[in-house]
Amino acid sequence: MSPSDQPSVRLRPEIVALPAYRQGQAAAATAFKLSSNENPFDPLPGVIEAVSAETAYNRYPDASALALRQRLAAKYEVGVDEVHVGAGSVALLAQFILAAAGPGDEVLYSWRSFEAYPSLVTVAGATSVRVPNRDDHGHDLPEMAARITERTRVVIVCSPNNPTGTIVTSDEFEAFMAVVPNNLLVLLDEAYAEFVTDPEAVTGLPLLKRYPNLVVLRTFSKAYGLAGLRVGYALGPVPILDAARATAIPLSVTGVAGAAAIASLAASDQLLRRVRTITERRDAAWRALTEQGWNIPAPQGNFVWLPAGEETTDIADVLSAVGLVVRPFPPEGIRISIGEEESVEKLVCMCADIVDDLPTGHPARRIG
Ligand SMILES: Cc1ncc(COP(=O)(O)O)c(C=O)c1O
Repeated sequence: MSPSDQPSVRLRPEIVALPAYRQGQAAAATAFKLSSNENPFDPLPGVIEAVSAETAYNRYPDASALALRQRLAAKYEVGVDEVHVGAGSVALLAQFILAAAGPGDEVLYSWRSFEAYPSLVTVAGATSVRVPNRDDHGHDLPEMAARITERTRVVIVCSPNNPTGTIVTSDEFEAFMAVVPNNLLVLLDEAYAEFVTDPEAVTGLPLLKRYPNLVVLRTFSKAYGLAGLRVGYALGPVPILDAARATAIPLSVTGVAGAAAIASLAASDQLLRRVRTITERRDAAWRALTEQGWNIPAPQGNFVWLPAGEETTDIADVLSAVGLVVRPFPPEGIRISIGEEESVEKLVCMCADIVDDLPTGHPARRIG
């Protein structure tokens, strides 16, 4: 039988139509990879040793990642069962969405936000409801609240928001939670929490005691620099976490990943120093770009957002040509990770000419 004679296998049409996850572009050895919000530093002290000591590759890992959950529970002063660990927080997002939303249900989030949300919702069989970001690139929480219906099963709030870098303030979040029904699951995605310096930003942890429908998602991929090992965690009420556990693909968090995360938690002083280096670099870049005339939101993650609009692809190409591999989201803007010092210097230098070339009245240009 030739391939064209073979009966076509029946697949879910919405899955056939779904593009695979688009990863930040890779960079040549001579270029800087600023396309995936990765950490530019080597693993924290103790991580390589902890990983090297994990040699029982013939054995399955502990499916519940108990040792890591115990460390996290002690750190956040919660019960061990109030912590759930997954192979990256993207795996956890998938589990919570699967646990709460299916065909006919809606999952509500601000847009543009983390590029994985739409496909995770489609895979669950549910429908995405996207509320456009405000003009200042932040979440429009009152509008999100207004879009909640009987069908809404999950709301995702991303703070700092990927890719715009904006935060949701504590006041905004609490006003939102006050009108959200307490049987509706709210996922607060805090993948970049460690980089937040704005005192007004929401922090989910202290709110967990107050809201029985709130789950906070964190990751070791960003501040801790373990993106390649895939570890994220959720904090929240046991019944909701149990439902997510039930949907998880078993044994996805490897022993090596768990050991690296535990070793990273033990290196908190070095972590804080590294995070401070990145946030100082980020804030200096933002100030320099603003002085050049860019109109960009104050960044609170480990990246900056250039709302380049129709010029997105052209500007990304200009940056790529000088060895800065960034993440374009045409026709909205460009997300650029704060990486090595030299990459930031190069970026600021290139951006001076780029902003001058933007047409007058372009939203990425400051007025006056
Ligand atoms: C907002 C947000 N949430 C979740 C993730 C997933 O991170 P990971 O699966 O590496 O923990 C990312 C990754 O870029 C992100 O930007």
